[in-house]
Amino acid sequence: MAAKTNTSESQIDKTSFWYGGLCGICHPGGGGTEFDRDGELYYDVTSSQFGYEKLGMMAGDVTLDGDYAEINNKSGALRAAPWDVTGVAEPDCLLCHRLDRTIDSGKNMNWIWRTATLRAKDKLEDGAGGSVPAYAAAATAAQGWFSTFALSSSVPAGKPPMATDLGIDYQVGVTNGSLVEDAEGNLRVNSASVVGTPVDYACWGCHVTPDLKKRGRIWFDEAEDVHYAGLNNLDDADVGNDIPAAASNACTYCHPSGLDHNIAKGNAELGSVRNDTDYVNFRSCRECHLPGAEKDPAAPEPTSSVHTAGHLASMSCEFCHIPYKTGVADWAVDNATTGSTISYKTNVLLSADPLNPMDPDKTRWYPAFKSKVDSDGVSRLFPVKRLLSVWWGDWDDKGTMDKSDDQIRPIALWRVRPAVAGLSPTDDDSDGKVEVNTPTEIAAYIAALKGNDSYGNQIAANPVLVKGGDVYYDATGAGQIESFDYEAEGVHTESSHPFSINHNVRTPAEALGSGGCGDCHGGGGGVGGTPVFDRLIPVDPFRESDGTPFYKTVRELTGVSPF
Ligand code: HEC
Ligand code: HEC
Ligand code: HEC
Ligand code: HEC
Ligand code: HEC
Ligand code: HEC
Ligand code: HEC
Repeated sequence: MAAKTNTSESQIDKTSFWYGGLCGICHPGGGGTEFDRDGELYYDVTSSQFGYEKLGMMAGDVTLDGDYAEINNKSGALRAAPWDVTGVAEPDCLLCHRLDRTIDSGKNMNWIWRTATLRAKDKLEDGAGGSVPAYAAAATAAQGWFSTFALSSSVPAGKPPMATDLGIDYQVGVTNGSLVEDAEGNLRVNSASVVGTPVDYACWGCHVTPDLKKRGRIWFDEAEDVHYAGLNNLDDADVGNDIPAAASNACTYCHPSGLDHNIAKGNAELGSVRNDTDYVNFRSCRECHLPGAEKDPAAPEPTSSVHTAGHLASMSCEFCHIPYKTGVADWAVDNATTGSTISYKTNVLLSADPLNPMDPDKTRWYPAFKSKVDSDGVSRLFPVKRLLSVWWGDWDDKGTMDKSDDQIRPIALWRVRPAVAGLSPTDDDSDGKVEVNTPTEIAAYIAALKGNDSYGNQIAANPVLVKGGDVYYDATGAGQIESFDYEAEGVHTESSHPFSINHNVRTPAEALGSGGCGDCHGGGGGVGGTPVFDRLIPVDPFRESDGTPFYKTVRELTGVSPF
């Protein structure tokens, strides 16, 4: 994200205005989509003033302001952020608290309407050519209170929808009963349309994309999750007691919240905000299932012998009970080769055979493991999906020999794309995806990234490729590429991002160990090995030598090696 104060266009990446229209579809209204970093409303309709005007500044003073500029991330062109056209996005309570939601073929239309409206930014019209303030109107559109709504047909598949026209019409709400008119003729939300405990669909709108892409999570499918099945009575013989998907509120059963809206959570990897609230008011697997004050009376207690033998000391419940995933997730994203994302999915790098990733059966994949602090304060192995990233940074050694103060700043992709557009790396492994991997290719990219961007500023003084745990750099300034392992050298940077896997618990019959102790023991790392500790985990999407992915075993990655 762009800083508030910048001295050149070249320092600016995604700004607050861009965040409002793109990130704001899931990082909801209020706060950063309403107020600038001085605490002023970006645009105040009551006084027709931008926030900076209230502080005595003029448009010319904020051309490089991260709150009032917007950079086109395709062309790199800079413009003034049109908050006066879009308005600001305020907190949207009904996004979660609307009871009678519109679910169409499994899609949460309330979320889609809101998203499409925000994404239109300053281009939204009312059907008659008039401008509609997209950010201000998004919460209203989310409730379906419109008589016309048109989606752009030019959005590529897989990208969030974008509206072109929106005709707000509160009469639609009055007619369907979600709005009622009071004695003075004002409209208010009908209390019958509001619910205290949000249903799963309210949560899922924002969580489905990251949960699927980051973790391969599937919901609303009783075959994929014992809790979705159990909490909605879908796993018994009585069809009459089934709770339909649209009414399920399993999310809040495990993740309760109160008026403070600190939705209870555990200790997710890559969830660094408010670690102080980890496990506060939250019951994880252990609290609900093991004997104790917080035990859920409806949760069966594990009693079979695999739960003894010290296994619960070193492995989390998730370790064995989320044995595999079926949802296709991103395992690696390459932002370096073209400057646009090339992704390598689990159905490419992995397979249903944990020991042979190239097996043609792609119906499931198996996670990696990482130690983290469990709800009782003990560190255990948890399943994770490692997201591998490949990217260009600008390496600043701060003029010292000490590596721990070094900084590798990612280069904004709008600056990478034009610089590398003329380069043509080869697809060494013929997987249909080009990759920047050989020393010759890396050298050519580094030379290009030492050039200037469209504003005449040098893109990077010391461009480096971060990939597969290593940093590749030009050692002589003449194209001699060398690399080092950044963790071993103590340089703080990342090319592997573990995402916790905590949902899609399967039936006990599918848990690791149900196939015998040999799921984990007896392989010894020899030929074949065990499906758990010798399974292959991708650690580099394309290696230097031949562009093929590189794998390590769970044994190598965790250092845990049962007999
Ligand atoms: C499709 C929904 C969606 C979009 C779009 C989205 N996010 Fe997120 N983001 C989430 C969810 C959900 C989480 C947290 C839970 C998780 O990891 O699944 C999250 C987590 C994050 C985190 C981690 C916060 C932490 O706790 O450490 C950051 C940072 C972040 N998002 C930034 C962004 C930015 C910047 C954008 C726009 C470029 C963006 N997100 C767009 C849904 C989204
Ligand atoms: C991201 C979803 C979300 C949004 C947005 C949201 N809430 Fe909530 N709210 C919740 C959850 C979850 C609970 C706890 C429900 C439970 O655990 O039973 C809750 C509880 C409440 C309660 C207590 C309800 C009760 O029956 O105990 C009130 C009141 C409330 N919210 C008001 C608001 C208001 C006002 C706003 C807008 C400023 C808002 N909420 C926005 C998710 C949300
Ligand atoms: C408007 C989009 C949106 C809705 C609706 C929403 N969430 Fe989230 N949720 C997010 C984002 C974005 C984050 C990450 C926030 C951050 O870390 O900065 C998040 C974080 C979380 C986390 C914490 C993840 C962690 O890092 O440990 C939990 C748990 C969660 N949400 C559960 C829920 C539940 C339950 C509901 C429904 C009541 C819900 N969410 C509704 C967007 C949403
Ligand atoms: C909030 C309480 C709660 C939490 C947290 C919870 N469970 Fe459950 N779990 C239940 C309940 C209740 C059932 C029984 C559902 C039913 O009616 O079939 C259940 C069922 C199960 C079953 C099926 C048991 C059987 O004999 O069919 C397994 C396995 C299981 N849970 C494991 C886990 C794991 C692993 C976690 C952590 C990721 C976890 N649970 C988290 C409450 C919880
Ligand atoms: C059976 C209980 C249960 C249900 C139902 C449940 N969760 Fe979770 N959730 C957990 C547990 C346990 C964790 C992990 C806690 C930890 O870090 O140890 C978790 C973690 C999360 C996280 C953090 C990221 C991650 O996946 O680790 C998010 C976000 C989240 N849940 C959202 C949701 C949403 C949204 C729903 C409904 C669609 C939901 N959860 C339903 C138990 C549950
Ligand atoms: C080492 C792997 C492993 C770990 C760790 C593990 N389980 Fe299990 N669990 C299994 C297997 C295998 C079964 C099926 C046993 C059978 O069919 O004999 C099972 C069965 C269960 C059952 C059904 C009742 C029973 O005992 O057969 C529940 C409930 C359960 N586990 C919950 C948990 C919880 C909660 C945790 C964490 C405290 C946990 N398990 C940790 C492997 C494990
Ligand atoms: C899901 C994997 C898994 C399964 C299934 C499993 N184990 Fe283990 N077992 C482990 C791990 C991991 C350790 C701890 C090894 C370590 O810390 O180095 C362990 C430890 C042990 C130990 C203790 C050894 C010692 O050095 O203290 C015994 C005994 C044992 N297992 C027996 C069994 C038996 C018998 C079964 C079948 C009923 C079984 N295990 C199933 C993973 C598993």
